[in-house]
Amino acid sequence: MTAPTYTLNDGLELPAVGFGTYPLRGQAGADAVRDAIAAGYRLVDSAYNYENEGAVGAGVRASGVARDELVLASKLPGRYQRHDDAVTAVQESLFRAGLDHWDLYLIHWPNPGQGHYVEAFAALLELRGRGLVRSVGVSNFLPEHLRTLQEQTGELPSVNQVELHPRFSQVDQRAADADLGVRTQAWSPLGRGSSVLEDPVVTRIAESHGRAPGQVVLRWEVQLGVVPLPKSGDDERRRQNLALFDFALSDDEMTAIGSLTRPDGRIAGQDPATYEEM
Ligand SMILES: NC(=O)c1ccc[n+]([C@@H]2O[C@H](COP(=O)([O-])OP(=O)(O)OC[C@H]3O[C@@H](n4cnc5c(N)ncnc54)[C@H](OP(=O)(O)O)[C@@H]3O)[C@@H](O)[C@H]2O)c1
Repeated sequence: MTAPTYTLNDGLELPAVGFGTYPLRGQAGADAVRDAIAAGYRLVDSAYNYENEGAVGAGVRASGVARDELVLASKLPGRYQRHDDAVTAVQESLFRAGLDHWDLYLIHWPNPGQGHYVEAFAALLELRGRGLVRSVGVSNFLPEHLRTLQEQTGELPSVNQVELHPRFSQVDQRAADADLGVRTQAWSPLGRGSSVLEDPVVTRIAESHGRAPGQVVLRWEVQLGVVPLPKSGDDERRRQNLALFDFALSDDEMTAIGSLTRPDGRIAGQDPATYEEM
């Protein structure tokens, strides 16, 4: 099974589900990426800081699937947000992966206290012009950070990848992204192995559809128009996590899963207004 795609604000065709790769590394990581592509994933999410861009490149080459059928993504670390550092980091990222371009490159965290995310965004736009990156996105950007990008560069990112799962459903952030024409991606879409997959609301809905709890949670995200990036080191779960397009949740089921959200529902309390990652 492969996922349908969304056309982003810059024309990139983005699969509606992607493969999350943290913390898959080394040969096991390369094998997981190869097998994920064999299972039908066409979007692979990596990051400079995951130290697995090499494994992603190796997995892609082993897959035998044509490069232009894949959407390969990585992310710029906080410590490289100054213009020249960002340019070098993207080049280094490409060397590591053995690629000549990334389809999507995101600013990993805004780190607002550092004050360099606009400079990083401008550098990535420049690299887009030079063909090293096809589409520029961000991650963990609050609405105010997106508006600052728009005011200072006249451009908006194609995607905003944020923490999103039933315990933290991001109602306001999703609305802000949608208003600006920015596609929301979900990190930790399964709640990263937390108890949400055992919640009776989720398990009851899963049973009624004859599906696994994880599939119901990912389907809820798909129906919200969000692109989930589930990670699994297991081939059967990887396939399950992509088999989301032959069933649908009712409005009541969508509401019931959405009602599990909590103001303090972040997995590790990483509020982008204050949390910084280098
Ligand atoms: N931008 C950011 O700041 C940021 C932050 C965190 C993550 N991410 C990205 O988002 C991706 C996903 O997030 P995540 O890895 O934190 O969490 P996740 O995908 O929500 O959860 C992964 C966990 O769920 C298990 N799992 C996978 N499929 C399952 C299923 N169908 N049923 C039950 N358990 C299942 C996995 O175990 P097995 O491997 O054993 O299946 C793993 O322990 C990452 O890999 C990374 O690419 C981005």
